[in-house]
Amino acid sequence: MVIPLEQKINELNQRLKKMKDEKRYFYLKSIDGASGARVTIDGREMIMFASYNYLGLITHPKIKKAAIDAIEEYGTGAAGVRLLAGTTKIHEKLEAKIAKFKGAEDAVTYSSGYVTNLAAITTLCQRGDLVIIDKLDHASIIDGCLLSGADHRSYLHNDMESLERILVNSGKYINKLIIFDAVYSMDGDVANLPEISRLAKKYGAKIMADEAHSIGVLGKTGHGIEEHFGLKGAVDIHMGTLSKTVPSIGGYLAGDKDLINYLKHNSRPFIFSASLPPVAAATAIACLEVIEDEPERITNLQKNIKQFKNGLSSMGYNIMNSTTCIVPILIGEEEDTLKLCKMVNDEGIFICPILFPAIPKGTNRLRAHVQATHTSEDIDKALDIFERAGKKLGLI
Ligand SMILES: Cc1ncc(COP(=O)(O)O)c(C=O)c1O
Repeated sequence: MVIPLEQKINELNQRLKKMKDEKRYFYLKSIDGASGARVTIDGREMIMFASYNYLGLITHPKIKKAAIDAIEEYGTGAAGVRLLAGTTKIHEKLEAKIAKFKGAEDAVTYSSGYVTNLAAITTLCQRGDLVIIDKLDHASIIDGCLLSGADHRSYLHNDMESLERILVNSGKYINKLIIFDAVYSMDGDVANLPEISRLAKKYGAKIMADEAHSIGVLGKTGHGIEEHFGLKGAVDIHMGTLSKTVPSIGGYLAGDKDLINYLKHNSRPFIFSASLPPVAAATAIACLEVIEDEPERITNLQKNIKQFKNGLSSMGYNIMNSTTCIVPILIGEEEDTLKLCKMVNDEGIFICPILFPAIPKGTNRLRAHVQATHTSEDIDKALDIFERAGKKLGLI
């Protein structure tokens, strides 16, 4: 049945109005000033547990200075697509830095992480090819599959038997690409790279890892999933964003020189969309340098993750299989999730509910993001608030 557009718009707006009237609308909150471990909203200080600023780099003095210097040198925009008049020295420097950071031969950047996934999948996979994705892969990977025209199948989340079942029946395809999130953005667990790599070799598939949430997070020095597992060279195509731990904007693909050159001359988002502002490129370069120069941030993040998770688990909260700074607090029912969210927000915790259909039915949750710059007191205070709220609602 086709629903008139006006009806769909009305229904959504009524639902949102009801949430606002009940003071249970937690989205589009406007932050005064920079986002950090603590933020000010409507004059009230809150502890931030909803941002991707995992290493706390947004206000880093060296990175801010690099951004200011880049504006002085390059102005505000590149005024063109990369292929024609939109490439500057700073774009080339960023791509060389990313390639080195990821241990790849070369890299190419795009205007967002979302667009990067569309670019990779639509350029590398077409009608007659097969893309295999994890059921919990990011929306941009699913959209890329749909846009590419390639056949696509999804395996059960991080379930290697399910992946192999698809691969066993993939004999008729010449080009097969397995794509997975290195760290899953809703569950906070890590992809099983050793097994994916083994299966890819066995069945002649290539693999692409989306490292949106693993750069600066996974591996002793924050270089990502290959470092985490000690499997250098296991990933064929490294994808990542410059919008999370690296607090700029944009996305990248890194891999073999010839592959990157192919993308630079064939991917439509590179050819038909304007280049990153030079300031975004300069910011990203400085961030990657800081990640390498200040490993203590990663150590601190790990310490904070441990404190937060141990605290929640010992109270009886279910934090699923998270092993990273993304910590789901599984509640189940939407009503309970919204009640808990309101209670902890009222007490000064900035956190968002993640509701169906963004995640599977019945797995409504709050999603907490731990930062390296949270203090031990921030985490203790948050745990105390979660404990009191959870007990009051009978959730723990
Ligand atoms: C796993 C994953 N991939 C890609 C993206 C898109 O990145 P961006 O926000 O830079 O467009 C996101 C964003 O949340 C993500 O979580």
